[in-house]
Amino acid sequence: MVKRVQIQAGMLFLAACVHLGAAAAGMLRVDGAQDGGGSGGADTISHSLTLVQRLEALLVQGNGSDVSLRVETPNADEVKVIQAHSLVLSLQSPVFAEALLNRNGSTLVLKESSDCAAAFDKFIRYLYCGEISLRLDQATPLHKLATKYQVTVLQQGITRYMTQNLARDSSSGHVAGWYEYALQAGDVTLRDSCLQYMAWNLTSVLQSGEWATISSQLLMSLLQRSDLVLQSEMELFAALEAWIIQNEPDGLTAENALRAVRYAMMPPRELFRLQTQSSVLAQYQESVRDLLYMSYQFHSAPPLQMAKYFDVNCSLFVPRNYLSPLWGSPWIISNPSRDDRSTSFQTQLGPSGHDAGKRVTWNALFSPRWLPLSMRSMYTESGAMQPTRADGGRPRIIITPATSSTDFAGVNFQKTVLVMAQRQGKVVVKHVYNFHQSTEENGDFLAEADLYRRTSEYLTDSSLFLHIVVKPLYQTLITTKN
Ligand SMILES: *[C@@H]1O[C@H](CO)[C@@H](O)[C@H](O)[C@H]1NC(C)=O
Ligand SMILES: *[C@@H]1O[C@H](CO)[C@@H](O)[C@H](O)[C@H]1NC(C)=O
Ligand SMILES: *[C@@H]1O[C@H](CO)[C@@H](O)[C@H](O)[C@H]1NC(C)=O
Ligand SMILES: *[C@@H]1O[C@H](CO)[C@@H](O)[C@H](O)[C@H]1NC(C)=O
Repeated sequence: MVKRVQIQAGMLFLAACVHLGAAAAGMLRVDGAQDGGGSGGADTISHSLTLVQRLEALLVQGNGSDVSLRVETPNADEVKVIQAHSLVLSLQSPVFAEALLNRNGSTLVLKESSDCAAAFDKFIRYLYCGEISLRLDQATPLHKLATKYQVTVLQQGITRYMTQNLARDSSSGHVAGWYEYALQAGDVTLRDSCLQYMAWNLTSVLQSGEWATISSQLLMSLLQRSDLVLQSEMELFAALEAWIIQNEPDGLTAENALRAVRYAMMPPRELFRLQTQSSVLAQYQESVRDLLYMSYQFHSAPPLQMAKYFDVNCSLFVPRNYLSPLWGSPWIISNPSRDDRSTSFQTQLGPSGHDAGKRVTWNALFSPRWLPLSMRSMYTESGAMQPTRADGGRPRIIITPATSSTDFAGVNFQKTVLVMAQRQGKVVVKHVYNFHQSTEENGDFLAEADLYRRTSEYLTDSSLFLHIVVKPLYQTLITTKN
């Protein structure tokens, strides 16, 4: 009799707890500020932290438990048993609610893969406490569990955690693994974040232990992109060669991958070196012969003249975002919110060997508070002189050639500005902006950077880190998009 009363009291307590616990799970703070200080004069006492501790104790000690979870792993003898409370489980997870309704006795058998079984305690603790600590290697199994049991806030929280921790150091790399997981789990946000990180910070991926293990599907997704940020096309070829040697793919896969390399973007000297020294290229010589041939042609004539005789409309001639000095220059702007800054730098006229040695000088101007013309008239009318921060001037960069030259005829120079930001103490490429002359063409250039805030993630030691790439596109020659 006594026991029964205790249990009922326990259930009541639990019901109250759970109510608050759910708020904590949604990351809301129960601090009782709503009523306090107002005219009503009602104050709130908040013990939600204690409450969470009580709930944790309830889970650890299993008092008043009305269901035991039996976590089984296929092909493993070990079974994990957790004493739980159906009220908490049902409250947090519609899948548990359903399973508990249809259960057969006091045990619920759950079949989990071994990585999920290993993370299961953590997952259940989250259901009770609304809080979880994450490690890189546990993110995937916990995301799987949150997805399977439809704990939506946790699932979204882990997706956010993964998105923000792509640049983290890990012994063997984790981004490609997360990409494959997101692809299979259908988490489009995570999949796209991983792919974009890999494309824009490719060097870190190529150098990680994970590179050799990536799937041919991911390999092709990367090779086809024009926005890859990397040192040079040679760097990509070397990584592809290593991947082919390691994975020994079937002939068609290797051929498709090798045909995605933009050989025309390699100087002829490098091209010849690869042809004579690369065992992979020797093996697949026939598959890429036409591309190598076109690349040598591209190097031996002015690109526009070549276009007159040959139909060359393919990605072979579209540059990616190369960081090597021939293609552009880094630009570090200290205290970028202060005033306008300018710089100048040189690039090659173009990647064709025919133009080797020809240089173009560029002037770049950065304005932290530039106002579009439409808005400027408002200031002249009101008599104000300079727009202030509150007036909402926007950052802008314009890039113009220092001299106009007839050499430019028919060549359209696409400018790309790479914007770095801090992620977990690491610098990563956060944005890639393409434009012809001015970032106005983009509309949203650094729109969310908040350069005035000292803690802005775009500032490293109060400096803005940019890299400008100049890519000659031969309009008459190339009409491929992107
Ligand atoms: C749980 O039960 C144990 C004894 O079985 C008791 O000592 C402990 O105080 C109880 N805990 C709670 C939170 O009621
Ligand atoms: C559920 O109950 C039925 C009949 O009582 C029994 O045959 C079956 O084994 C039970 N299933 C489980 C999973 O306990
Ligand atoms: C170039 O190729 C693209 C797609 O492959 C095609 O849509 C376009 O019409 C081609 N342009 C010319 C000039 O051949
Ligand atoms: C990401 O790429 C940029 C540009 O190459 C580089 O400066 C940065 O160090 C890279 N970050 C990581 C984590 O590899």
